[in-house]
Amino acid sequence: MVELLSSVTVIGGKASEELAKRVARRLGADFVGSELRVFPDGETKITLKRVPGRGKIIVVNSTYPPVDSNLVQTLALISKARQHSANIVAVIPYLGYARQDREFLPGEVVTLSVIARLLKAAGATKLVVVDIHSRTGMKHFTIPIKNISAIEELALFFKKMRLKNPLVVSPDLGGAKRAQEFAKSYGTEHITLEKRRDRKTGRVQIMTSSLDGVKGRDLVLVDDMISTGGSIVKATEFLKKQRCRRVFVACTHALLVGNAEKKIRKAGVSRIVSANTIPGSTSAVDVSKAVSKAV
Ligand code: R5P
Repeated sequence: MVELLSSVTVIGGKASEELAKRVARRLGADFVGSELRVFPDGETKITLKRVPGRGKIIVVNSTYPPVDSNLVQTLALISKARQHSANIVAVIPYLGYARQDREFLPGEVVTLSVIARLLKAAGATKLVVVDIHSRTGMKHFTIPIKNISAIEELALFFKKMRLKNPLVVSPDLGGAKRAQEFAKSYGTEHITLEKRRDRKTGRVQIMTSSLDGVKGRDLVLVDDMISTGGSIVKATEFLKKQRCRRVFVACTHALLVGNAEKKIRKAGVSRIVSANTIPGSTSAVDVSKAVSKAV
């Protein structure tokens, strides 16, 4: 049971208003909404609907597309909150730019380190994120950062579905630990595919040549995020060739850019289930409990 903290205010940005309300309810905190105005040139102006308290302020806003606009609004809310309190927890459930955590090709900017400095400069004193793309990314932050996970909740969601002889699959080596955690919470086994992405074109290829033990089984592909859907489409096509039964997808952040959802369904995926770090048609798993504990 979460202790009541009446001196706490939760500010909800437009990208995460529903989640922010849920967090406020769980904490017994005041909720302060925001109003957004978009100018003809694309600039946004964000205004708080009420004056927050002087105690701890939790600013909740994801930075999914339009990433830069949501990021600027998050920074603006943090800086406004800082005028009222010295204790500002920024909750960015989906942290955009987390994949730009290192210099993959010479000359590339490690943009995540720039974001880390911006959040601190705006006034955040602590950061909470959900299933950050890699732990390497966390090293760029000089304020305390807590990475919580939706994987267990996703696994519990799938446990309620009637799957036949389920097997958990990571589409790439980087996600192996995530798939292992999901499989452990579900109480089944997991395997990992080998994926290669061309760093220049972004093209994805599955390098695993064949698999034993998937025939006739229901598979759950587990990933941190779906952007264009390229990784999931390639993995599904490969798994279908191995004569599996149905393919499901569990991911924390369903960006589903452009026609990603359509492409994934066309590839043969029966259902996509994601968390409400990004609200949408697939976001069936709520992270407000984990967020409330972390702040
Ligand atoms: C990559 O390492 C990530 O975990 C995701 O698999 C990837 O970012 C998804 O992107 P897309 O949907 O565009 O393939």
